[in-house]
Amino acid sequence: MPPTAALQPLDLIYTAGPVTKRFHEDVVSRVKLLIGPFGTGKTTAAGWDLIMLASQRVKKSKDGVRRSRFAVIRNTWPQLRDTTIKTYTNWFPELYFGKYTVTDHKYLIRQKGWEVELIFKALDEPESVRDLLSLELTGAHFDEVREIDETIFTHLMGRTKRYPSKKETGDENSFLTTPQVVLTTNYPSTQHWLYKKFVETPLDGYTIYEQTQAENSHNLHPDYYTDLERDFADRPDMLRTLVRGQWGVTVMGRQVYTEFRRETHVSKKPLKPMRTTVIRGWDNTGLSPACVITQLSPTGQWLILKEFCGEDVGILDFTEMVVSWCNQAFHQGVFYKDYCDPAGKARQSNLKSPADYMKQLGIMVADGIQDFKIRREMVAKRLTYNPNGEPAILVDPSCTTLIDGFEGGYAYPQIGSSGVYKPEPAKNRYSHIHDALQYPATKLLWTPPVDQTRLKLPSIGIV
Ligand SMILES: Nc1ncnc2c1ncn2[C@@H]1O[C@H](COP(=O)(O)OP(=O)(O)OP(=O)(O)O)[C@@H](O)[C@H]1O
Ligand SMILES: [Mg+2]
Repeated sequence: MPPTAALQPLDLIYTAGPVTKRFHEDVVSRVKLLIGPFGTGKTTAAGWDLIMLASQRVKKSKDGVRRSRFAVIRNTWPQLRDTTIKTYTNWFPELYFGKYTVTDHKYLIRQKGWEVELIFKALDEPESVRDLLSLELTGAHFDEVREIDETIFTHLMGRTKRYPSKKETGDENSFLTTPQVVLTTNYPSTQHWLYKKFVETPLDGYTIYEQTQAENSHNLHPDYYTDLERDFADRPDMLRTLVRGQWGVTVMGRQVYTEFRRETHVSKKPLKPMRTTVIRGWDNTGLSPACVITQLSPTGQWLILKEFCGEDVGILDFTEMVVSWCNQAFHQGVFYKDYCDPAGKARQSNLKSPADYMKQLGIMVADGIQDFKIRREMVAKRLTYNPNGEPAILVDPSCTTLIDGFEGGYAYPQIGSSGVYKPEPAKNRYSHIHDALQYPATKLLWTPPVDQTRLKLPSIGIV
C-alpha cells in the first residue's frame, strides 16, 4: 500500500559500509557474492539491492509500470521465516510498501510507477523446490548460500532474466542492465563450491565482495565481536569462518591436532630464512608429493617456513621445484638435512625408488619413523611446549594447507556413522603435507625410550 496522508513519513535510513557500497554499485556482474562475518549487514544489503536498485533496472511494461520478480531463497523454512523474511519486512514494512501474503510467502511491493514481487522459498520441501524451478524471474537472492546445494543454484540461474518478458515490455531486451543473482553468506570452507566458483577459478561474470567485522560494527553493540571471540574460543573452525570471516576447513571426522591454536602457532609476520641448517621433510610416495622447509632458531624454536603440495606430479619435477626455491631462498653454503617416509626407498621390481630419483638431484634422504603414534606425538609435543613463553613450533602464514590441516582438515575418519573413528588419519589433501612435517619431527625431536633393563644398577646393599 503506498504511503497515505494519515501515515507518518517513514524514516528509512540506510548507509551502506564500504564493501557493501561497491557491491551495490556493481551492475555488470551476473552473480555477485557478498560474504563476511556475522552481522555485517549482508541480508539487509541484498534486500536493498533487489527492492531499491535492481527493480529500477527493468524496462517499463506497456502500462508504464516497472515490474520485477525475485525469488528469495533459504535452506530451511524456519531459517527463512525467522531471519530472512523478518529482515525484509522490517526494513520494508507492509504499511508503506505493500502486502505480504502468509499463505504463499509472497510480498507484493507496490509503489508509484513500480512494483516488485518477492517470492520467498525454502528448500526443505520438495514441492517448494519444484515450484521454484518453474518460476519466471528477474533475479534472485540466495541467503546463507553456503547451506545450499550447487545444483539448485545452477538450475535457478536458468529461471532468471525471464521477467518481464518481451511481451510485457514490447522490447527485444526488457532489461536496462544485466539482471543479477545476489548471494549472501558467512564463510564456508575452501572445499565449498562457492570457493571454487569465486576464488579458485573465478567464473566470468561472478564477483565476490568480502566484508570484515568493521563493515557494520557501528550498527551493532560495541561488545558484539569481542563477546563472540570469547563464545567461540574453543571452536577455532567456527571462530575463523563465522566471527572473523575467513574461508574455513571442513572437518571430516575428528581433528588430529586438537593442541593447535592459530593465534599461537601461526606467525603474524612472514618467517625469514636464516643461515642455519635447513631441515626438509618429504612425503615422497605417491602422486601427491609434499615437502616442508624448516629451520631451528637459535632458541630451538622449530620454524616452518614454506610448504610445497604437489598434485599429480612426479617426484623428479617436484624435487626440482623445491630445490630451485631453496637455492634462491637460502645462503649458498647452508647445510640441508632431508627426512622422508621409509617407504620412499622401496623399489618396485627393477624401477627406481622415489629416493633414487631425489638422489639424482643431490638429495640424500634419511628415514623418518613410520609409526603414526610416534609421528603425531612428536608434533603434538611441540604444539603444547612453550619455553620462555614462545611456542616451540611456529608456522609461516603462507603454509595454508598445513594450517588448515592442523585446524581439522587432517582428521581421523568416522567409521560409517558409528561415532567411532579410525586410528589413523584419512588420506586427503591435508594428509601429505602433515606426513612430510612428521618425518623430521621424529628424528629431530624424538629420543628412543630408555631400555630399563640396561639401566638396572647393582644393588649397593645398604643395610
Ligand atoms: N546499513 C545499515 N544501516 C543500519 N543498520 C543496519 C544496516 N545494515 C544492517 N543493519 C543492522 O545490522 C544488523 C545485522 O544485519 P543483517 O542481519 O542484515 O546482517 P547479516 O550479515 O545478514 O547477519 P548474519 O551473518 O547473522 O546473517 C541488523 O540489526 C540490521 O538491521
Ligand atoms: Mg543474514
